Parts: sequence; C-alpha cells; structure tokens
Amino acid sequence: TQFTSDRLLLFGATGDLSRRMLLPSLCALDAEGLLGSHIEIIGTARSDMDDLGFRNFAREALEQFLPANRRGGIAQFLNRLSYQPLDANDIDHFQALAEKVGTPEKGLSIFLSTAPSLFEATIHGLEKSGLAGPNVRIGLEKPLGIDLASSKVINDAVHHAFPEDRIYRIDHYLGKETVQNLLALRFANLMFEPLWNAAHIDHVQITVSETVGLESRVGYYDDSGALRDMVQNHMLQLLALVAMEPPVSYDATNVRDEKVKVLRSLRKVNVEDTVTGQYRAGAIGGQAVPGYDDELGKDSDTETFVAIKAHIDNWRWQGVPFYLRTGKRMPKRTTEIVVQFRDVPHSIFTGRGAKTVPNRLVIGLQPEENITLSLMAKVPGLDRNGYGLRSVPLAITTPDAFAGPQRRIAYERLLLDLIEGDQTLFVRRDEVEAQWEWIDAIRAGWEEQQQTPKTYTSGSWGPSAAIALAERNGVTWHE
Ligand code: BG6
Repeated sequence: TQFTSDRLLLFGATGDLSRRMLLPSLCALDAEGLLGSHIEIIGTARSDMDDLGFRNFAREALEQFLPANRRGGIAQFLNRLSYQPLDANDIDHFQALAEKVGTPEKGLSIFLSTAPSLFEATIHGLEKSGLAGPNVRIGLEKPLGIDLASSKVINDAVHHAFPEDRIYRIDHYLGKETVQNLLALRFANLMFEPLWNAAHIDHVQITVSETVGLESRVGYYDDSGALRDMVQNHMLQLLALVAMEPPVSYDATNVRDEKVKVLRSLRKVNVEDTVTGQYRAGAIGGQAVPGYDDELGKDSDTETFVAIKAHIDNWRWQGVPFYLRTGKRMPKRTTEIVVQFRDVPHSIFTGRGAKTVPNRLVIGLQPEENITLSLMAKVPGLDRNGYGLRSVPLAITTPDAFAGPQRRIAYERLLLDLIEGDQTLFVRRDEVEAQWEWIDAIRAGWEEQQQTPKTYTSGSWGPSAAIALAERNGVTWHE
C-alpha cells in the first residue's frame, strides 16, 4: 500500500529496544531529513510520564546510544516527541491514545515493541479506537510466538485488524547492510551464480557467535533458548538468502516468494544431526565470566548453543549440507557464511606440496564486512621435487571500498521502510510459519529423545560434539 506516514506510534516506548535502537535510529533518520518535516512521534507505554518526561528519557538514550558525530539532530528530534501512558488491558486508555495521535494527514505507522502477551489486547484496542484504518500499517517486533501454534494465534489476532500488506514483521538481520549485500554478491555478479549449486558446492556453514551471555533478559531467554532466539529467525533468513533462486525482481513479493520456497524445502532434521549446549564459567578475552546456571540463579535445560546439519530438498541443493551453529559466550562475536566449493575433478599437479585445497568463499557479515575467496596459487620458486601449491586469500571486498558512509543501525533501514511502506525486508506470514514448522519438529525430536544440552566452557566454540557433528562428514568449522 502506497502511502507515507506522518505519524509514528511507538508501543513499548520506554523499553530497552526503544532506548538502544528505535529512538537513536529515528533521530539519525530525522537528522538526515528522511522522516519528512511534519513527522510526529508518539510514544506509549505503561509508565506514567508526560511529554517532557519522555523527551528527557529520549535525550538520555540518544546521548548514550548515538555516536558523537550523529547527535546533531537531537534538539529538532525531541520536539517531535510526545507521550501517552497506556495500560493495554484498559480499553478506555486507547481512546485517550487516539486523541493524542489525532488525524494524520497522510498515514500512521505503528510499531509494537511490547510483550507478545499484550498483542491481542493492543490490536483490539487499536481497532476499537479507530487506530487501525486503511492508512495505518503495523510493525511487529519479535518474539512472534514460541512455536507454530502460538505464532498463528498472534498472526490471526493481527490479521483481524490489518491485512498482510500492512503488517511488517521485523527480523532485524534483514535491516543489516551486510545481509542485504548478500543479494548484491549473488545477483549483481555473474561469476558465482553458475557455480552456486550441488554440482559445485560441497557444503555451506553459517555461524552466528556472540560473546555476551544472558544479559538482563532472564525471563525471556530461559523460556526461549538459542534455537528459537536465533535459528528460527535470523539464521533461517540468512540460509534463505544464500539458498534462494534468483527473484524476478527486487521487490517484496518476488523476494519473499523465493525465500519461502527455500524454507518449505527444509528437510526434517534428525536429532543426531543436532547438538545443544549450555555455557559454564570460563573466560572471554581474559575476562572471567560466570556460567549460565549461575547467571540464572537456578538449574535449567535451556540451550545457549545449538549446531544443526540441515538439508534443503530441492534440485539446486540436493546433498549439500548446511551447517548452522550459534551460541552465547563464544570466543568472539562473528556472523559468517562459508561456502565451501568442491575440489577440482582431477589434479594435473603431482609431487610434494602439490595438493589442491578446494576453494572457499567466506562472507563475514559481523563485526566487519569482509568477503574472501581462497584460491590456489603456485608457490614461487624453482623446487625440482614438484609444483608447490598453496591456498591464498583474495579479499574481494572490505569496508574500505566504501569509506565514507556511516555505519548504520539495522533499525534505521527498517523504520524508514515501515514509514514509507516497503515490505521487502520484512518477514511474510508464510515465511514465519514455515520457519516455525521446521523448528517445532526439531524441538519435538529433542523432547522425544530427552536430549538435554551438553556443557561447554565460556570462551570455547561449544561442546565438542558440535565439532564431531561436522567432522563425521570430513568438515571442519571455519575459524
Ligand atoms: C536478537 C536475540 O534477536 O539478536 C539476541 O534475541 C541476540 O539474543 C541478538 O543477542 C543478536 O543481534 P546482533 O545484531 O547483535 O547480531
């Protein structure tokens, strides 16, 4: 639906995401003149405060979370903010909120960054108070359910008031510039695509490792675990972008049509092809850190690490394993995709040091973007005993290629697209449901076989079983 928004209504405006990501992103967009000169931003949450209180809250957040060179627009931005306290379970409060929002000239964007348990009541309140009209679109922050059934309940509730083309489900990985660049790498270059299939690719690895632990998200994380927190959403989106067919064009329907086909082709995983772990005390970067159970203050069977050998049952990927792993309290923070090609069919070189090593494309997405292709080269020299070969890295892109543009927060892209109405980087209902279906089957397998997480020391790459999972197939995790 083509309309831009001149009002933005932010639920959960005093929450952590708002402080760290949403307000800073909006302020940065505003400073660049991207929000339009008439935009008004209305915050709402349970806390009782007035406009001035909210502006003070926002100023503190902006000064803390925007880098110094991006703080120029703060004064102008604060003037756009107002606030209305709200108890989502009190329908009368929505009337007051609707009055505060007033009548936008063009359109209203709503962003829900609240507990999912409040979604139903919130949607109901929006509907009743006239805040769900045809010029309103709604953005939804995760978690959208804990399994397929609960995600359907949420989606049904939202659909009661909003059609799919006005629902914007966030996966913040899609807002990352480096993740979008995967599409440029694949579809704006000729040289990879002809090789991008089972005939030429041996396997793919996707790693998302973090050094942080539980942080302060005790309630949420322990109910969720790594599989639901990271694999269901971010890692499956990365997998879909790596594996999808070329879309007809870069737009919301075509890109999402191709992603969902991949997600539906995921083979049901055997429990033996998964490894779960939970961190114990250890050290990261020389800093001692406590174990998960100590942070949590009780015993728990929640996994903070998961590794999966996945398969995509379609023509392009038949027989190519996709190794996924993610964990907290790993040695370093990194998001990386490794595309391991097959070896040459026949080597003409013999003798000492003449062994070929298969080419590898390593796409580092975080903390820096870094794309490296390993190529075989002749070791220079006059060695009589053979033809020395060595794998050498060809760094095909680095952030240096684009020196200049700011490093952006993923939410800048996503909030701008929400306000302007572009769904390409948002997750469609059928995608979410295909993701959950696959995840639910994994969880069911764990339950059936009573698989509990193995322990691993903080600062390591997870339980040794994860290494064995890859090694069984002669694969080593890229480090
Ligand atoms: C969130 C997860 O969705 O993504 C967190 O809930 C995780 O547990 C975070 O830390 C990672 O995001 P990023 O952008 O830091 O890679």
